[in-house]
Amino acid sequence: MIVARTRDELAAARKDLRGRVAVVMTMGALHEGHAALADAAREQSDSVIATIFVNPLQFGANEDLTKYPRTLESDLEILEERGVDVVFTPTPEVVYPATPVVTVSAGPLGDVFEGSSRPGHFDGVLTVVLKLLHLTQPDVALFGQKDAQQLAAIRRMVADLDVPVSVVAVPTVREPDGLALSSRNRYLSERERDTALLLSKALKTRDAVAGRALFDGAPAVLDYLERVDSTTFEAAPDGDLLVIAAKVGTTRLIDNLPLHDLSTHKDTP
Ligand code: PAJ
Repeated sequence: MIVARTRDELAAARKDLRGRVAVVMTMGALHEGHAALADAAREQSDSVIATIFVNPLQFGANEDLTKYPRTLESDLEILEERGVDVVFTPTPEVVYPATPVVTVSAGPLGDVFEGSSRPGHFDGVLTVVLKLLHLTQPDVALFGQKDAQQLAAIRRMVADLDVPVSVVAVPTVREPDGLALSSRNRYLSERERDTALLLSKALKTRDAVAGRALFDGAPAVLDYLERVDSTTFEAAPDGDLLVIAAKVGTTRLIDNLPLHDLSTHKDTP
C-alpha cells in the first residue's frame, strides 16, 4: 500500500493504478463502517484509493476541529488489511494552498435538517469532495448511507455539474444492538450509549410520530425525526427515508432508515 502525502506523490501513484479505480473518502478514525466502504470498493473495482483528510472547511466555528479524533497508525493498518492500494493523507496546506474563494454550494439541500444546525457544512463537504475527485480521478466513488443527506448532496453535485464519476451508496453498518457505527460513538459514556439506542429504536417504529414518543422523558434531546424524500430532503408524508438526529449528552448523533425497496436495503436497525 502506497501512502501519498503530497499532490505529486498521489499523481505518481495514481498513474500506476490499473483498470476501474474506486475512491473511498474519509476523515480517519476508521471503524467497520469505513471498512465496509473499502470492502465494497475492492469488490467493485480493480484498484482502490482511500483518502484521510479532516476537512477544516466543513467544520463550523463552534465545532471543534482540533478535537476530531486522529488515529492515523491504526487507520493505515485497517486500510492495508482491506486491500487498499493507495492512501492519500494530505495536510490542510496540501489540499488548500490558498483559502478557496470559489466553492461549491449545496443549494437548498444545504439549509435543511443537518444543514440547518450546521450552516455551511455541506458546502464545505461538496467543495472538498469535488477537489478530492479531481485529485484522485476515480471511476467510482463510494459513500455511506449513514450520512444520507451528504450522499444526496454529492449525487446532486455530480448530476448538476456533470462530474464524470459513478456514485455508489453502501448500507449503514451497525452494532448488533442497532447502534449505527460513528466516530462520535467514542464520546459516549456507558449510560449515554444505552440512551443512543433510542435513535435506531425510533427508526424501527418506521413512523415519525411513534418514534418521537420514545423520546418523551428520555435523557436525550430529539432534534428531528421526519419522513423525507431521499433525493431532495424535503419533508414528505410518503417520503422514502426516515431521518433522525438527537443529542445524547454533548454528542450529536444522526441515523436514517430507507422505507421503500426493502429487498435492496440490508440496513434494518
Ligand atoms: P467520515 O465521517 O469519516 O465518513 C467517511 C465515509 O464513511 C462517509 O461516506 C460515511 O457515510 C461513511 N460511514 C460512516 N459511518 C458509516 C457506517 N456506520 N456505515 C456505513 N458507512 C459509514 O463523511 C465524511 O467523513 C466526510 O464528510 C467526507 C465525505 C470524507 C468529506 O470530508
